[in-house]
Amino acid sequence: MTDTTTPTAPGYFARHIFFCLNERPNGEACCAQHGAKAAFEHCKALVKEAGLAGPGQVRVNKAGCLDRCAGGPVAVVYPEGTWYSYVDTADIDEIVESHLKNGQVVERLLTPAELGR
Ligand code: FES
Repeated sequence: MTDTTTPTAPGYFARHIFFCLNERPNGEACCAQHGAKAAFEHCKALVKEAGLAGPGQVRVNKAGCLDRCAGGPVAVVYPEGTWYSYVDTADIDEIVESHLKNGQVVERLLTPAELGR
């Protein structure tokens, strides 16, 4: 439910993408086992190269477990709240070009709604 009584300030970033980089030392499934760190670094470099980084634009952030491990590796884009399950850096290229640059959701990479922890 939206609280309409709380004033909201304009966003500092137009979009935020958070990558789960969680690593479980006990061998349980986690995004870190599936190239999450490389994907995060690739995304950060691409956003910077494309001139999309900074205030009013895009911020690429690390996150701990986002509680959707079954769909991992996952990343989520706000303010839309769009969840992605990616496989490789080509998928990250597409998310950057389509969603972060042009605001178009990459339908084929959406995390299925039923996948949680
Ligand atoms: S380990 Fe990545 S969402 Fe839980």
